[in-house]
Amino acid sequence: MLSAFMLFLSAVVVALLAGPDPAVAAIPSTLQSILKNTHGSKEYGYPTDLTRDLLPIPVHSHNDYWRDKPFYTGLSHGCMSTEADVWLYNGTLYKVGHDESALTESRTLESLYINPILDVLERQNPDSAFISSPTKNGVWDTVPDQTFYLFIDVKTSGPETFEAVIDALEPLREKGYLTTVKDGNNVTNGPVTVIGTGETPFDMVAPVKDRDYFFDAPLADLDDPKYAGVTSAVSPIASTDFQEAVGKITVDTDPILSDDQVKALRAQIATANERGIGARYWNTPYFPVRTRNLVWRALLREGVILLNVDDLDAVASYF
Ligand SMILES: *[C@@H]1O[C@H](CO)[C@@H](O)[C@H](O)[C@H]1NC(C)=O
Ligand SMILES: *[C@@H]1O[C@H](CO)[C@@H](O)[C@H](O)[C@H]1NC(C)=O
Repeated sequence: MLSAFMLFLSAVVVALLAGPDPAVAAIPSTLQSILKNTHGSKEYGYPTDLTRDLLPIPVHSHNDYWRDKPFYTGLSHGCMSTEADVWLYNGTLYKVGHDESALTESRTLESLYINPILDVLERQNPDSAFISSPTKNGVWDTVPDQTFYLFIDVKTSGPETFEAVIDALEPLREKGYLTTVKDGNNVTNGPVTVIGTGETPFDMVAPVKDRDYFFDAPLADLDDPKYAGVTSAVSPIASTDFQEAVGKITVDTDPILSDDQVKALRAQIATANERGIGARYWNTPYFPVRTRNLVWRALLREGVILLNVDDLDAVASYF
């Protein structure tokens, strides 16, 4: 799963280093209008072009609780990863927000993520007399075997909440749309890869031999004995706080990272990559823009799998 993605990523990095492509930058509004004109319309002619021309970018859409339609907003910008914060109340997984006051009754994991993702995947995998065996295309027309990473950030008590998350995945599971593990190490890539983060209990993921969910391991602590056996079959992506693990940025010139920072970053990414794990850093600087962009560039050059981004318009025009 990682190697095809790495190839794709290196193509993106080459394009990035060559400068922004205006054609790519223009895409989000195209998808917006496709969504507006075709969503829910059976008459729409070509069955699988919901994301036609949309190139996935190695971006994790963060802080999506600001957005009305977080999954579609991330998708329309090409983000290949998103994060849902979930809170368990009375058996329902509510989101959206980092605090309880932002929760409302209609904003649930099901209504904001599971149902829309299922809807897109059903469009990408239509039943037709021309199809001899069921397809498992992902959300991207342009790269149909690219998985979509759904990080679920557990906010309430880990065991009960993560149990509810596992149940909530049933509609995607039933259709065979989830990345799965058999016998603890046989990974079958699917259109959606679910990764538990926040309060997700490690012990509810790593020891389970047959499952369709993964664990966001701590990138800077992979050498800790607790995580010694962790490979991509447990954590396809591991994450950490950039400022804690790499350090504060003190200059705004290229190179943006000090030699020591580059050394720390390379050691962490190498440890992860040796086990097939992709690296992600959150809490990277977002301001000034020049600093933010130089850090993005340095991270991509060093081989992170995803950038963690709040401002999707900025990152879409950056690629
Ligand atoms: C949970 O259920 C109790 C009892 O039915 C109810 O009073 C309460 O408002 C519910 N809380 C939420 C967040 O729905
Ligand atoms: C891995 O799982 C797939 C799908 O279930 C199966 O076809 C394949 O034989 C398995 N491979 C190994 C090495 O067990």
